[in-house]
Parts: sequence; C-alpha cells; structure tokens
Amino acid sequence: MKLISNQINPHFNLWDALCAVSKIGGWSKPDFAAELETKNYRLTNTARSALGIIIDVLKLDKDKRIAIPAFICGVVATPFLERGYQIEWIDVDENGLIDPKDFEGKASQVGLVVVPHIFGQPAPLKAISDIAQKHDIFVVEDGAHFLNTEIKDCDAKILSFGREKVISCVSGGALLWPETSRYAAEFKKYELPSTSMMWQIQHALQPLIFALGKYWWQLGGKIIPAIALKIKLLPLAVTKAEKQGREDIKIKAMGNIQKRILKRQWRLWDRRTRQAQGIAQTWKQILPVDTNVSIPQNAFRVILKFKSTQDRTNFIKQYLVSRRWHTRDWDGVPISPQGVKLKAFGYEPGQCRGAEKFAQTYLTLPTNIYCQTKDIKRLEKHA
Ligand SMILES: Cc1ncc(COP(=O)(O)O)c(C=O)c1O
Repeated sequence: MKLISNQINPHFNLWDALCAVSKIGGWSKPDFAAELETKNYRLTNTARSALGIIIDVLKLDKDKRIAIPAFICGVVATPFLERGYQIEWIDVDENGLIDPKDFEGKASQVGLVVVPHIFGQPAPLKAISDIAQKHDIFVVEDGAHFLNTEIKDCDAKILSFGREKVISCVSGGALLWPETSRYAAEFKKYELPSTSMMWQIQHALQPLIFALGKYWWQLGGKIIPAIALKIKLLPLAVTKAEKQGREDIKIKAMGNIQKRILKRQWRLWDRRTRQAQGIAQTWKQILPVDTNVSIPQNAFRVILKFKSTQDRTNFIKQYLVSRRWHTRDWDGVPISPQGVKLKAFGYEPGQCRGAEKFAQTYLTLPTNIYCQTKDIKRLEKHA
C-alpha cells in the first residue's frame, strides 16, 4: 500500500528530497524578483509570518476586527489573535469561498480582510475589494492555494511555500505589495531575524524522512517519520500552541537553504502543473458521471462536492474504500486542523453554517506527483 498525501510533502519524490538535502551545502542566497515579477517583496519562514508583518505595520485599532472566511487553516488567524485582535468570521459559498454578501453585512466593524482562493478556485476578490473600499478595509489576497504574481484588487498579497502548497520548500512565505502602497517603506524595512541553521536543516530533511517511508507506509515505512518525530527532528505544520490560537513560530526571514530548495522547485512548477492537470482529467474520466467534480485552473486538487455528509460517506465507502483507497481530508472541521480550539478562535459552532456544511460535504482528490495515472486506473479496473 502506498501513501498519496495532499499534506505530507506531496511535491518531493525521493530524488527531489535528495536534491533538497543537497541544498544544505551551498552558499548562494537566491533572490526571487524574477519569479515574483516585482522587487516589492519579503520572503519569510511561513505565510503566517507575512500576515504578522502586515498587522504589525498597519497597527490597526484593537476595536477593528479581522475578517477571515470560516473555511480556513487556523494559523491564518493566529497572528491576529496573538496581537489581541478579534476575528470576524465570514461565511463561505457552496465552493468554500468567502461570501461577499456576508462580508458586506459585517464590514462596518472590520479593519482588514484575508481573501484565500480555497483549493485553487478563484475567490471573488474584486467584489470583496469594492466593499472594502467603501469601509476603508485593508485587503490581503491569500495566494497560498493559487500562486500567481498579479497584485490587483488588494493592498497586499501573501504566498505560502509550505508543505502542501502550490510550490513547496517545506516552510516559507512571501509578502508582496503594490508599487503604490503607502506602507511600502515600512514593509521594506521590517526587521526579519535569520532562521537558525538547525531550523533550516530540520526542514530540509523533512521530505527525505517522508519520501523514504511513503512507498511502503503500511509495511513499516511510517516508522521512519515516527522516530524522527520522537527525537524532535520532524517539524510540525501546526503546533499545539497554534491549535490554541497562540502564535509560536516567530516571524523570521526565509532560510537560505529554503530559498535554494524553492529555486529548484519553482523551475519544476510548469511541468508539474501540466502533470497535475493530466491527472485531474484522469480522475474526471473515471469518476461516476453524477459526481459533482470541479478542477481549478492550476489543478491544485480535484474537488468533489456532495449534497450531504451521508452522500460523501457513501461515496468514500462504495467507491474508494471498497477499492482499497483510504482517504482523509480536512477532517470535516471548518477551521482546521482537527483539534483546533474553536473557542480560542472566537468561533461558536453554528456561526457560519455555509463553512460547516462545506467542511462536511466536500472531498479533494490528489493530483500530486505521487498520484499516477496507473493508481487511478486501478480504481477503474476494480469498478
Ligand atoms: C489558505 C491558507 N493560507 C495561509 C496558510 C498559512 O501558510 P503557512 O503554513 O505558510 O503559514 C495556509 C496554511 O495552511 C492556508 O491553507
């Protein structure tokens, strides 16, 4: 049995992982002005750090709230919670994307809004930006799931190069701002301490630790990451403190090792996107005709939507588990991962029903390099 995970270093096969380790040695400090098509950027250790920079620079009044759609990874909220801001949770539409109507109703209390393109689907950024302008709200486009360099209809943009993002260097982020930003000088001079060499090495080793175990996961391969976790060599994507709404990964610059890994992974991006698009089409061909399938332009995931949780459970059981595909996703919780203390995030169950419904009725299928046409065809063979 093979592990095809959306979350665990999906962009690193064994060769990529070895190349990542090789970047530990080396002296170059690549810059990304060409890739990002701007000089107005800072590279950070995570995307959450980029959000921390924004709020530190903006210094909004504490009575202003931070609007975040309620279908999201909790770490998007922690930089704001840590600094004493309250989150205004915004409901999402049937695709898991921020709902402009709900945002408009809550806008009068808001000072900043984060707009993510969930699973690569385009968020209604223009509509949000139009509403934001009327209320003097700072708009942050969150490109964690949809990487491009366009800076339009927003006041700043964040990118993530975390484990499961579009391009990965295991942990990294970027803050981009438009030429005309009145905060440009402050973003530029914001002090970013260096990441320790130990942190950089730990993160560079992570893909190898998993790649060594993935192909024989159930036959004992998982022992390798388990040992690495035990001896605290394996860094966590979301820490215990973050699940409690606390920021415990300090704002730092992106490590030079991570920059070198990112440079290589960026070069592979085009080819890998085309590969993902091909895999997505294969999924579409073999799925039952009545399945509600959507494939975003970057084929970041194949997204399935079901009418009810029961329909989703039936699909997983009848179509996947019976053919020995075991799937797990964001665990049915709106603010992920499972175990996030909703109270600490200022979220009351039932507050954003659209987000809760979406969390319980969607499923994403992998398009990453571990998922090959033959793996999907095997499903068809068993049909
Ligand atoms: C939509 C979205 N934005 C931002 C982030 C934060 O990215 P990072 O892990 O680089 O802090 C995540 C992380 O899971 C995310 O899913």
